[in-house]
Amino acid sequence: MKSKSLVSIDQCSKEDILRILDNARKFEENPNRKLLEGKVAATLFFEPSTRTRLSFETAVNRLGGRVIGFSDASTTSSSKGETLKDTILMVSNYVDLIIMRHHLEGAARYASEVTDVPIINAGDGANQHPSQTMLDLYSIRKTQGKLDNLTITMVGDLKYGRTVHSLIVGMSHFHPTFHFVAPNELRMPDEQKNFCDKHGLKYEEHTDFTEDIINQTDILYMTRVQRERFTDLEEYERVKNVYILRNDMLRNSRENLRILHPLPRVNEIAYDVDDNPKAYYIQQARNGLFARQAIICEVLGISIDE
Ligand code: CP
Repeated sequence: MKSKSLVSIDQCSKEDILRILDNARKFEENPNRKLLEGKVAATLFFEPSTRTRLSFETAVNRLGGRVIGFSDASTTSSSKGETLKDTILMVSNYVDLIIMRHHLEGAARYASEVTDVPIINAGDGANQHPSQTMLDLYSIRKTQGKLDNLTITMVGDLKYGRTVHSLIVGMSHFHPTFHFVAPNELRMPDEQKNFCDKHGLKYEEHTDFTEDIINQTDILYMTRVQRERFTDLEEYERVKNVYILRNDMLRNSRENLRILHPLPRVNEIAYDVDDNPKAYYIQQARNGLFARQAIICEVLGISIDE
């Protein structure tokens, strides 16, 4: 990677992605490698998180480093009016790496411009979630045995879902075919469709979530309708239950189909899907630990083969 920070998946070349995925596989074989001894990482979470924060913190701990940070910004001096710039400069005095989630799009990029300490974007508004993309790519390659020429169906909130926006960019090196299934209010934004057009990526848009689409699919990527991004809660109520995946909808699906979801789930995947061997979202979240260990070593310039 050219930059020390990882703020967007488009910073990663195909070679960068494949190297990080190979390193993630080595961490899956042995996650306890003391490569961060003497180093301190900060996790600054201005927005809620379960998986991203805890897997990053576990990653640092298993690498022998230490973690400071917060998961509730109301307990920090930002609640007294401290700017993001000053917060980042202060934390930079203490740590070797900053992992941050913020509600404002572009916040991680801005942070990377005000400090020399590497920044990892753990989600900025509806924009990007590059470490999620890396674990998604890891999960796709692990379950399909390849990344090339797969049909990926994305379902749900494609407007606000930063994970699907990042995944399109991450998959763009690997000749995917996309199906975008969303209600009109939550369609894939023009920015992402223009990206597909520019890079020659095939996609179709649908408002109906049918078995016919599922049966053509290798990776079914379900997403939650993100209540926190709506300014009009009546609109949220109208669309929140529009697509629910049930087990019986998978009866004629491909053998290799795997169901991914960045989680948390609300009710877009019925609980009867969980016992289907094609459900992969729990293992997907586990893969986040290994992908994040690989990302941390990448941004800190640490060779994992030492
Ligand atoms: N996938 C994801 O970002 O989950 P959390 O919001 O729990 O971190």
